[in-house]
Amino acid sequence: MCERCGALWCWAVSLAWEARAVAFFRKLRILQTNCLPVRHIDNYKKYRLVGADRDLYEGAVVHVPVLVAEVIEAFKLAPPIAFLDATVGGCGHAQAILDAFPGANLWGIDRDPRAIGLAAKLLPQRRVQLFNNNYSELDNLPQKTFDGILFDFGLSSDQLDAPERGFSFRSDGPLDMRMDPTKGISAAQFLNTASLETLAQAVRDFGEEQNWRHVVNAIWRARGTCQLERTSAFAELVRSVLPKRYYSKIDPATRTFQGIRIAVNGELEAIQSALPKAFDALVPGGIMAIISFHSLEDRLIKQFFRQLAGLPVTRKDGRSKDERQSFGMIRTTKPITPSRDEIFANPRCRSAKLRIFQKGGTRP
Ligand SMILES: C[S@@+](CC[C@H](N)C(=O)[O-])C[C@H]1O[C@@H](n2cnc3c(N)ncnc32)[C@H](O)[C@@H]1O
Repeated sequence: MCERCGALWCWAVSLAWEARAVAFFRKLRILQTNCLPVRHIDNYKKYRLVGADRDLYEGAVVHVPVLVAEVIEAFKLAPPIAFLDATVGGCGHAQAILDAFPGANLWGIDRDPRAIGLAAKLLPQRRVQLFNNNYSELDNLPQKTFDGILFDFGLSSDQLDAPERGFSFRSDGPLDMRMDPTKGISAAQFLNTASLETLAQAVRDFGEEQNWRHVVNAIWRARGTCQLERTSAFAELVRSVLPKRYYSKIDPATRTFQGIRIAVNGELEAIQSALPKAFDALVPGGIMAIISFHSLEDRLIKQFFRQLAGLPVTRKDGRSKDERQSFGMIRTTKPITPSRDEIFANPRCRSAKLRIFQKGGTRP
């Protein structure tokens, strides 16, 4: 009933107008956030420039850390004293952890020497120790136990947006794709030397490219030519053999680039080797938080956490309850994903998923 005239129709009309007005203002807000990169800059200031020297960033690309507030909330469950950031990258999470937990010291790993060099300039030396290493070797750190561990898989924007690193098909550069350019072989060498089966595994399994046969055949034919030397030429080759109608939302080269990057850096093997080591290094009651960016990573984390929590790992897991052992609890029944606001501010975070696990027992 309308409060003024008591008529039902008047009340219904006013409700409809209210709904239209809400929709209109939402739309306006969406337009504003899309048009102005200001929110991106705000995030940048908030997480990257607090207390840091602006000059350090001149020429450096900005990595905006994802789900920072959610990560901090997760670690509040058991405030850390010894914290391991296994993917220190652009230091956004590391700095936020140091700010949120003034009593914590941080051990930071990154396999990219450039990320470690930047972190050495940005993070307070007194509370931080840095290691240029693969996280699959985290058991070799001088510190053996941690009460908080964070993994933020994938690439940082600093890597993705540097043409000379060869990760992106959006700019031209040497087809390198190594997170640690001092080790292993470049993507160009990989494409020129890998067996047919290894190429198929990269494009089909790691890239989840449906039309993988076209791509693998094209790579095979292009061996020894300059088409496999530079990012833009390689992207063009991939696009030229894929039917455009399947790729309305993404660049047709996206999946192939992802698959080859995963293969060149042995990303899934590194994760598989690091997760049990991280669990062993976690003190009872400690928290492990992991951010992933694609389904292959997320599946590994989900299955690992379910295994630790004593739950069936997959639908085919036929073990009875008595056969499964629980070592802690999953703190996220569903993965935490970025809010709409965060996605507007930083579209690269749109596929991020955060999962949290707490080891059983009480802290020593
Ligand atoms: C998404 S970024 C991390 C961003 C960081 N959390 C921040 O707030 O700026 C991922 C980082 O992990 C690093 N990385 C990827 N695989 C690694 C591995 N196996 N061992 C160590 N570092 C790795 C990359 O070099 C990259 O710097």
